[in-house]
Amino acid sequence: MIVTTKLLFEHAYGKYAVGAYNINNAEQAMGLFKGNIDAKSPFIIQISKGARAYTDKRMLEGIIRACDEIFPEAVFAVHLDHGDEQTCYDCIDSGFYSSVMIDASHDPFEENVAITKRVVERAHAKGISVEAELGQLGGVEEDIQVDEKNAHLTDPDEAKIFVEQTGCDSLACAIGTSHGAYKFTGGQGIHFDVVGEIQKQLPGVPLVMHGSSSVPEDEVARINAAGGKLKEGAKGVDIKQYLPAAKLGVCKVNIDTDGRLVWTRVLREFFLAKPEDFDLRSSGKIFIPEYAKFIVSRSEALGSAGQLDSVRELALSKK
Ligand code: G3H
Ligand code: 13P
Ligand code: ZN
Repeated sequence: MIVTTKLLFEHAYGKYAVGAYNINNAEQAMGLFKGNIDAKSPFIIQISKGARAYTDKRMLEGIIRACDEIFPEAVFAVHLDHGDEQTCYDCIDSGFYSSVMIDASHDPFEENVAITKRVVERAHAKGISVEAELGQLGGVEEDIQVDEKNAHLTDPDEAKIFVEQTGCDSLACAIGTSHGAYKFTGGQGIHFDVVGEIQKQLPGVPLVMHGSSSVPEDEVARINAAGGKLKEGAKGVDIKQYLPAAKLGVCKVNIDTDGRLVWTRVLREFFLAKPEDFDLRSSGKIFIPEYAKFIVSRSEALGSAGQLDSVRELALSKK
């Protein structure tokens, strides 16, 4: 059942976080649905601009509609990840998306406000909610001065003004995480003091954490042992930090890189062991349950595991 992102946040706020996973193809979709059903967890499917362009924007929509029929017990929302203004309008007009993200965080504050406001107006007119971003995620390195490092983080006072002026429904904050497989070289992680300050300024407003992959060391080691050349020693977010972040209002935790690592490990190990195989289904059949297993582990860390029946009840009570 496709539900609004707002409903998922209402159910989760302050208690647990909902995993938001990017998909690009049918195998990822199958693993994602299977894993969330196994964990009895609600979830968010994210589609990026790149994913919409990979095959055709209608392809993922078709796959998701099919999964909704194959897994009738699933409760999930569909979200545009890192949208620009035009892509947001395209998704809003499509009638398929539960929510969109307008990412104008690289623009100056006033410009970010103006763009976000326009998207919010168009989205709200169709009952779709909007995630906006303030602050800039990036490769935060240990050797950068504290001042410089903090300059990228979301300013809690600005966050309050931004949400008031734009009317956005949730806020993606830069709180120390970064995108991709090469995050921190040392013991950095989520800046809980900043999250706490943002929550104080914006009580009840769902916060979103991008760049939440954990980049498991053993996964990277297995990929490299099977011929990969990923940089070793880089750390991601400790999954034990998901739940404490959720208690501070982080309702949505974005995970993409870790899923890509599962895919890369499965395929590299498969073709190393079976160089004579050329059937794409052979490796796909391994990937789907492996990805499902990964999703179960993340749902448990997020605290969303076991919430499915209660979310469904809430959704049905609003129909
Ligand atoms: O934060 C971005 C997501 O990992 C999506 O990546 O734009 O390459 O699809 P993508
Ligand atoms: P990761 O690169 O850490 O998986 O972050 C994904 C993300 O933020 C998608 O918007
Ligand atoms: Zn992101």
